[in-house]
Amino acid sequence: FSNKPLAGKTVMITAGPTVEAIDPVRFISNHSSGKMGYALAKAARIAGAEVELISGPVNIRAPYEVEVTRVTSAAEMLAAVKEKIETVDVFIGCAAVADYSPVEVSCHKIKKNDEVMSLKLQRNPDILAWVAARQDKPLVVGFAAESQSLEFYARKKLEKKNLDMICANDICCEGLGFNSENNQLLLMKKDGSQILLDIASKEVLAQQIIQEIVNQISDNSHR
Ligand code: C5P
Repeated sequence: FSNKPLAGKTVMITAGPTVEAIDPVRFISNHSSGKMGYALAKAARIAGAEVELISGPVNIRAPYEVEVTRVTSAAEMLAAVKEKIETVDVFIGCAAVADYSPVEVSCHKIKKNDEVMSLKLQRNPDILAWVAARQDKPLVVGFAAESQSLEFYARKKLEKKNLDMICANDICCEGLGFNSENNQLLLMKKDGSQILLDIASKEVLAQQIIQEIVNQISDNSHR
């Protein structure tokens, strides 16, 4: 970014997986390296924003001049988001939040006995939807990783969660997404328009997403 188009703005980003304890040794989680969220944090900072990164457990160093809050579970991630949401202008939900967590967390290691065991799980709070439902909501951007009918499910999520934009990626494309360096994204906007970003590194895609956010902010301010 040649100038600092996000100077004076605060961008909050969730990144990485959440980890939900079953007992002291086991957990439920999702695949997520955190690379996309950290790349977004870096790109937003380069664009001049104050950046709040709320991160699940990952092995990446925090980008320069970015405030990182480290969390483990979805409940902790929501609490960290709530704590700082008041001043946020742009919220990007990039974390792979676990959809469910165990109803009870055993304080001792659960012994294996029967051939089959079941775990009782409860729905986790939807952090992105919670932010987007706020009265004074920031510009809200979500992600959708789908293995089929990408456009259909991503558009449904955009509408249901009241998002301004959703970055959709097809997780069935080999060598893309999750732990890989590269990705391909379809940006779908609230007004029905969409932009296909070509296969590129997560750094390049992050810059393109931040540029699109800059465009949306300047469009909104001209209305
Ligand atoms: O509904 P789904 O999990 O596919 O939605 C993905 C989007 O919602 C991502 O942006 C993710 O960060 C966000 N999300 C969330 N809290 C959840 C589940 C998903 O913020 N509990």
